[in-house]
Amino acid sequence: MALARIFNQFILSLSTTLVALLPFTFSASDSEALLKLKKSLNNPSALDSWVPGSSPCNATHGPWRGLVCQGGVVTGLSLDGMGLSGTIDVKPLVKMPGLSTLSVDNNSFTDLFPGINRLGALKVLSLSKNQFSGEIPSGYFAKMGSLKKVRLSYNRFTGKIPVSLAHLPNLVGIHLQNNQFSGRIPSFYSTALNSLNVSNNQLEGEIPSSLSKFSASSFAGNPGLCGQPVGVLCSSSSTPNKTSKNIIAAMVTLGVIILLLVIIIFAIQWRKKKQQVSDVPPSGISNDEVKVPVSNSIQAKTEENIKSAGSELKVSSPGNASVAELVLVNDAKGVFGLADLLKASAEVLGNGPLGSSYMVRMASGVTVVVKRMRQMNALGSEALDAEVKNLGKLRHHNVLTPLAYHYRKEEKLLVYEYIPKGSLLYHLRGDGGKSGSELDWLTRVKIVRGIAEGLEYLHNEFASRDVPHGNLKLSNVLLGPDNRPLLSDYGFHPLLNIDSLDRLFAYKAPEAKEKQTMSRKSDVYCLGIIILEMLTGEHPSQYVNDGNGGSDIVQWVASAFSEGRQAELLDTTIKGCRNSVGSMEKLLRVGALCTKTSPEQRLGIKEAIRMIKEIQV
Ligand SMILES: *[C@@H]1O[C@H](CO)[C@@H](O)[C@H](O)[C@H]1NC(C)=O
Ligand SMILES: *[C@@H]1O[C@H](CO)[C@@H](O)[C@H](O)[C@H]1NC(C)=O
Repeated sequence: MALARIFNQFILSLSTTLVALLPFTFSASDSEALLKLKKSLNNPSALDSWVPGSSPCNATHGPWRGLVCQGGVVTGLSLDGMGLSGTIDVKPLVKMPGLSTLSVDNNSFTDLFPGINRLGALKVLSLSKNQFSGEIPSGYFAKMGSLKKVRLSYNRFTGKIPVSLAHLPNLVGIHLQNNQFSGRIPSFYSTALNSLNVSNNQLEGEIPSSLSKFSASSFAGNPGLCGQPVGVLCSSSSTPNKTSKNIIAAMVTLGVIILLLVIIIFAIQWRKKKQQVSDVPPSGISNDEVKVPVSNSIQAKTEENIKSAGSELKVSSPGNASVAELVLVNDAKGVFGLADLLKASAEVLGNGPLGSSYMVRMASGVTVVVKRMRQMNALGSEALDAEVKNLGKLRHHNVLTPLAYHYRKEEKLLVYEYIPKGSLLYHLRGDGGKSGSELDWLTRVKIVRGIAEGLEYLHNEFASRDVPHGNLKLSNVLLGPDNRPLLSDYGFHPLLNIDSLDRLFAYKAPEAKEKQTMSRKSDVYCLGIIILEMLTGEHPSQYVNDGNGGSDIVQWVASAFSEGRQAELLDTTIKGCRNSVGSMEKLLRVGALCTKTSPEQRLGIKEAIRMIKEIQV
């Protein structure tokens, strides 16, 4: 007893001592960091008060100029209008854990400070009224999830608005006016966003619906923009006129009310009914890497999961019912609602990096795949609505268009048509080993061509996106009738939480890994990997996250070509390839050119298709 009390007291006194010491220790390192920073500036005459031997926050004449202090700790650096230039050395700032504001407005800085995006705790970043220029890489802000206010206005920034900026979950204000940003405005995720100005740039295209609450003055001076805030109709999308809009709105409301009634009736019946467990054997589909064996208990749990997705409906008021409903974006498989999904039996298909997939057979005879997307939690309902509706408009014989989505704050479901044959991954590796599949050489060439054509279509439809597909890999290519490839799980780049973007396969491209930049060429890289896999039967290390497993197929093929022994890599057990080694080598070369390290040297999608079409089978 006594011992314990003494021990407790010791701990107590130890921690009070530590707490008392903390501000002091911090400010000592703050001082060192700030003096280093001062050294990196060109004409720091305004910072004369920054001298060694005085404490930044408690100097005799108050804090050093330009500092904001709280409890003896530097929390802000406000170096506005001090005639500064040069390149701020960010390294010392990383060691200032209290720093939450960095503002250098109205100076003469020209180059984006290298590594400023390592200041992950920053809440305010203000670089307005300088001479910053050039493009900001699309992933630049990915690790700065605390940012609330970003001001880059009155500079000479060019290129697209970085998509990582738009994905910041806590953004409140964003000021980009008077630069030379071009391309489309991305959908901003943060629901807290209440101040936005992108005026006087060279932005174009449709203003995302998530930004429609802002006024015309936020967008002025961008002649290419269209959409509700600027009062310009977007010509490409045929917007219905006002009366038909009203009729649609009325119909939707009526539909929601009827559906609610159906669901309530169903919920009552469902409680009475015994849980129904289907005894269908696991199917060959594999939407993701890991196949999960289906047991009755998992099955029952899945039903629970999917059902729980809709359970809130029973208590929701008609006011927010539209949020909790299943929104159909493509009626190719008929019209169905959440109730139809809840009634049906479900089966686990697999778990992947982005979530799990379930197969659901509805009473109507239509079978769908429901994907629970675990990495889309930062997304607001308007942003998801706009993005998935865009995906729902796609029509191409090599692209699987989503059917519906369901949005709740803690649950996002995407619904696709179920493709019974399953994925290319299953057919190439499913039941053991190298080329143990029925896919002969002719079929493989057709599949590669179909994949490339589907990809080209996505690139045309989403011309302004950094990476239109973003997640092209064997498990996301399904095989339809006659082995027609169908691209799936594309277009997720604008939907995912920023900290999970690297789960997309396109992040395996060298430029994404090294420089956090992504482009259409990153998709081409993924196409190249598929081609190499289809011809060599190897399992590339690009699929393995820790980087030690599988063979680096890209490296391997590149060096084989340089040594003229590429023929050795071909999997000659592929059916029907006996007289086609020359053609196989040609296709392998396309794969090698699609996986070049430098995006500039890599083939474009059009060139890749031209070369694939030239291959004689
Ligand atoms: C910008 O800074 C200069 C000093 O470098 C100052 O004279 C001027 O008033 C500042 N302008 C604004 C708009 O703050
Ligand atoms: C946006 O910036 C422009 C140029 O500075 C300004 O004229 C306009 O009033 C601003 N609009 C809003 C909504 O802040």
